[in-house]
Amino acid sequence: MQASSLTQAKLSKPFDLDDWQGGNQALKEEFDYPITDIEGEIPTELQGTLFRNIPAMLDVDGHLVHHPFDADGMICKITFDQGKAYFRNRYVRTLGYCREREKGEISYRGVFGTEKPGGWLANAFDFRLKNVANTNIYYWGGKLMALWEASHPYRLDARSLETLGIETLNGVLKEGTPFAAHPMIDPGSADREPRYVTFGIRALGVATRLNIYELDAEATVVKHHAHYLPGFAFMHDFVITPNYCLFFQNPVDFNPLPFVLGKKGPAECMKFRQDDFTKVWVTSRHDPSYLHSLKVKSGFVFHHANAFEEGDEIVVDSVAYRDFPSINHNLSFHEVDFDEVPSSQLWRYRFNLKTKETRRQQLETRACDFPYVNPAYIGRPHRWIYLAAAAPEEANGPNQVVMKIDANTGEQHLHSFAPRGFVGEPVFVARSADAQADTAEDDGWLLVVVYDAKHQRSDIVVLDAQQIERGAIATLHLKHHLPYGLHGSFSRKVWL
Ligand code: CO
Repeated sequence: MQASSLTQAKLSKPFDLDDWQGGNQALKEEFDYPITDIEGEIPTELQGTLFRNIPAMLDVDGHLVHHPFDADGMICKITFDQGKAYFRNRYVRTLGYCREREKGEISYRGVFGTEKPGGWLANAFDFRLKNVANTNIYYWGGKLMALWEASHPYRLDARSLETLGIETLNGVLKEGTPFAAHPMIDPGSADREPRYVTFGIRALGVATRLNIYELDAEATVVKHHAHYLPGFAFMHDFVITPNYCLFFQNPVDFNPLPFVLGKKGPAECMKFRQDDFTKVWVTSRHDPSYLHSLKVKSGFVFHHANAFEEGDEIVVDSVAYRDFPSINHNLSFHEVDFDEVPSSQLWRYRFNLKTKETRRQQLETRACDFPYVNPAYIGRPHRWIYLAAAAPEEANGPNQVVMKIDANTGEQHLHSFAPRGFVGEPVFVARSADAQADTAEDDGWLLVVVYDAKHQRSDIVVLDAQQIERGAIATLHLKHHLPYGLHGSFSRKVWL
């Protein structure tokens, strides 16, 4: 690119990197307060609690973690009650969090490259990884669980956010048992109970053990079975239908040597085979012995929106990166150049279980991630997908736009917070608390955390999901910023 056109490209960027960096600062304080600085009105029917998990301890005693994914998880709780809202945040008191607070320095290596002080010699052959409990937060069966896929969940008190300890699900999970951060909640139907369906993967050298769990409404594990998949598997998310679970095994090679020698985090030791096929594993929710695989060229998939059965086919909507967004070990996460990072787009995949034929179709070119559908549609045909998206139509960028897309027609609706607002995952909350109610799929709200660089604080924004172009119906100004978060969920329970 010529110098002049490069300048042009930089100038036309809808954001300023310094603005974006404002959301990459740690938040170490813990707060409790009613949110009183509100523009617009909170709908009085919006009753319940939004939980968010944020990797928020981005530095320890001034030493940056290598990647935000290595930062300790902080849970935020925004309670909506009769048109009012309340904020609380608490760090998950994991073993590692408590130890590092005591010592005042980084005491563990991170999956994404964080090192203990003292260079590679101090890090080599130390395979302990800190459970940072920083990826998702879910309330199910009376238990609020902070989730991090490589280890057990931590349980918190839903009202105080006090850490209660390791959650074992009545002894089914042991300390350190991998338990995914992306549960799929089967909403059930007239003849099926709702279920919390999830998985855990453990690398065993030449194979990977895939554990699948189903929890009933009391959080009792009612199904648990394991499959052994050949090779190394990195799987962050999955999808369900009433009859199947599907897992995308991205084509990656794993060379653990730099990790063993203390030079890199394990996630930095993965290499994506860009031209290779993704293996898609299909398991049955009823027959533990059923395991089939199909192949598709998918790109690198972290997140899925949803899946459903259609005749002999299973349709899966997912966000795929053209290439693995690998981590440059020599760069801090504060130095990200969005032009250098591969972008991700929304795709539809079709898998024919009879003929093994697979197809794919790109649904949208805009860079996006954090897909969300109306939870009542999990596992069955959906129309609308909500995403956090980049402001430029083609180029990559931080998420500044909330996008709503019709997966069948491509019809889309946008609301942009550019140039100075940066958005996280939009959580859809249906207006009706009855999941079986006969209401429009998009009749509800989107709850979005937006970092406002102008005021260096974060807002909780409520959008009408049927009219997102109209912008916020309520903007709740927090008294401080929140670092960029990962995932969250909404519970109909009101915890004050
Ligand atoms: Co995720």
